[in-house]
Amino acid sequence: MLILSIESSCDDTSAAVSEGRLLLSNVVASQKVHEQYGGVVPELASRAHQQNIVPVVHQALEQAGVKKEDLDAIAFTRGPGLMGSLLVGTSFAKGLASSLQIPLIDVNHLQAHILANFIEEKNVENRSPEFPFLCLLVSGGNSQIVLVESPSKMKIVGQTIDDAAGEAFDKCAKVMNLPYPGGPIIDRLAQQGNPKAFVFNKPRLEGFDYSFSGLKTSFLYLLRDEIKKNPNFVEENQADLCASLQATIVDILMNKFKKAVKEYGVKHIALAGGVSANSGLREAFLLFAKNNQLEAFIPKLAFTMDNAAMISAAAYYKFIEGDFCDISLPPFARTEI
Ligand code: KG4
Repeated sequence: MLILSIESSCDDTSAAVSEGRLLLSNVVASQKVHEQYGGVVPELASRAHQQNIVPVVHQALEQAGVKKEDLDAIAFTRGPGLMGSLLVGTSFAKGLASSLQIPLIDVNHLQAHILANFIEEKNVENRSPEFPFLCLLVSGGNSQIVLVESPSKMKIVGQTIDDAAGEAFDKCAKVMNLPYPGGPIIDRLAQQGNPKAFVFNKPRLEGFDYSFSGLKTSFLYLLRDEIKKNPNFVEENQADLCASLQATIVDILMNKFKKAVKEYGVKHIALAGGVSANSGLREAFLLFAKNNQLEAFIPKLAFTMDNAAMISAAAYYKFIEGDFCDISLPPFARTEI
C-alpha cells in the first residue's frame, strides 16, 4: 500500500510517501516570506504553495524511490486551515489521483496531528499509544484535550474558548519585539531565565476548557507599566519574562490535562501539535506520566509541526477501512476534529 500524502493547510508545503504505516519520505518546504510581516499572510501563503507543490512532491517520490505510477492512493489535508492554502493541496491531489485513476483520501488536519504518534520509521524504536488515550493537542490555532477512542473516533473533552497556546506564545513574543513565530524563541530564551520572576493571570474556568486571552493581556499590561519606569525593561529581563510566561502556559495546559486524565482514567497519554515541541511542556508532560505510572507518547520534533508524514499516518487507517472520498469534495477552512 503506497500512499502519497499532501499537506498545505497553512504555511508549510509538505509531501510524504508511506508504505502501510512505514514512512518512506517526508519533505517540508517552509515559507520564509511571512517572517517580515510577523504572522502568516494568507494570500502569500497560497502563492508560495503553488510554487512549492510540484518540486516538493517530486522530491518526496524521489527520496522514497517510488514512481507515481506505483502509488495506490493520494491523501490530502481537507481542513481546517487557510482556504487559499488548502485549495492548492486539494486541487493538486485531485488532479493527480484522477490522472493516475487511484483513490483519493481526505484527512482532517487535527486528527492527523494526533495520529502523528503512530508514524513508523525504519531503524528506530516505533512506539504508539493504545486506545483509548487522551491527547493534549496544542498548536498555533488549537488547544484541545481529545479522547482518542480509535483512529477515526475522537471526542473533544476541552478546548480553548479564545486564543490557542501557540497564539499566546507568538503574540507575547511580538510585544517583546521577537520575530515570528515566537514560540521556539521564547522556549530557547526561557532556558536561561527564572520561571518564578514574574506572575501572570491564570484563567479560572470550570471543566476542561482553556483560555489564554487573559494571560496575553496580563503580559501586555506588565510590560506597559514596567517600560514607563524603565525603557530597557524588556531587554534587561528578556530571559525571565520568557521563562515566567512559558511556565505559566505549561501550568495552565497541564493542570486541565491532569484533571482530564483523572476523570477518564486512561493509562496512555499523548502530546501533539506545534507547541508540543516546547521543552518545558515536554518535561512537565513526561514528569506527570512518570509520577502517575502512565505511558507517555510525544511525536518526534519534525512530526510536531505541520508535515505530510502525519497525513499519511491518518490516511493509512482510512485506506484499510476503504474510506475514500469523491473528487467533488471541497476543502473546509473550519471544522472540529
Ligand atoms: O502545529 P503548528 O506547526 O501549526 C498549526 O497548525 O498551528 O504550530 C505552530 C505553533 C506556533 O504558534 C509556534 O510558535 C509554536 O507552534 N511552537 C512552539 C515551539 N515550537 C513551535 N511554541 C512553544 N515552544 C516551541 N518550542
